[in-house]
Amino acid sequence: MEPILKVENLVKHFPVKGGGKRVVHAVDGISIQIKRGLTLGLVGESGCGKSTLARTIIRIYPPSSGHIYLDGQNIASLSQRQLKPIRKKIQMIFQDPFASLNARMTVKDIIAEPLRAHRIGTPQEQGERVFEMLAKVGLERAHANRYAHEFSGGQRQRIGIARSLILHPELIICDEPISALDVSIQAQVVNMLKNFQEELSLTYLFIAHDLSMVRYVSDEVGVMYLGKLVELAGCDEIYKNPQHPYTQGLIRSAPASSPALARMKKSVPIEGDIPSPISPPPGCRFHTRCRYAQGICKAEEPPLEDQGTGHFTACHFLGR
Ligand SMILES: Nc1ncnc2c1ncn2[C@@H]1O[C@H](COP(=O)(O)OP(=O)(O)OP(=O)(O)O)[C@@H](O)[C@H]1O
Ligand SMILES: [Mg+2]
Repeated sequence: MEPILKVENLVKHFPVKGGGKRVVHAVDGISIQIKRGLTLGLVGESGCGKSTLARTIIRIYPPSSGHIYLDGQNIASLSQRQLKPIRKKIQMIFQDPFASLNARMTVKDIIAEPLRAHRIGTPQEQGERVFEMLAKVGLERAHANRYAHEFSGGQRQRIGIARSLILHPELIICDEPISALDVSIQAQVVNMLKNFQEELSLTYLFIAHDLSMVRYVSDEVGVMYLGKLVELAGCDEIYKNPQHPYTQGLIRSAPASSPALARMKKSVPIEGDIPSPISPPPGCRFHTRCRYAQGICKAEEPPLEDQGTGHFTACHFLGR
């Protein structure tokens, strides 16, 4: 089956203000693909480039280089006008439901906005669609005329989900959709997304900090470090058999679900801070924090290689 999304060697650099030719290497050559109806989870520390990758795929940012195939069509170099029909197929749910909803618009106008932008339906039909969507995400008709600031974080994210679904997209990029929410609400929102995936055969790119949530929603998981993908594998496989020292550290530093696991995890946390993406370390970008690093790690960049089982790892010393 052809993947619905195929990203090849995507690069997004930002110029450093007043920094001459220096750039932020936010996304530095990422290749991923997602099959229709499945979820690719993406994890990595703050600042590793997850949101930039998401925003570049959906063409909020123009890519510096690389290819983005949606349903086989390369959308990396389309103009804004050419992108318009594509925007119906691919939608995004944002990290912060407080900042991403316009405070001066009513809920109805927020949810109907994509319909207006694409001139779909009469105002009356648009209104009906909004009521349908509100019901779908568990909100009430009466909420339609209120403003976003009158809602809780969980309700706001439901409004964001309603807006993202109203055009019947095929692919939804969820950029930490639950990070800003109370723990008690997180599961509700994630379950809602899972149910919609099934009902509407949606494909998700699901970005998160929380490894346990990613595990719960994903078919495959990718791990990012400083603008690069360091490991990519099936969901169960990556948790049972993490190969990259960074992935191993991330899994160990996730909150443990049992005291026995907590003792096991205590052994090797990831030390030090993430280096600056303006001048990333040469060779393997993780070598400055890796307890196994040797000479070759500083000199040569390890390629992201398949170990023959669809488990990809970028490390010179595999399987320790
Ligand atoms: N519009 C921008 N202009 C310049 N630099 C940017 C821009 N957006 C992001 N960056 C830089 O790119 C790097 C990656 O940022 P990004 O927001 O993609 O990380 P992230 O993995 O989403 O982090 P978080 O988990 O905190 O959301 C950071 O160093 C950030 O400062
Ligand atoms: Mg982010």
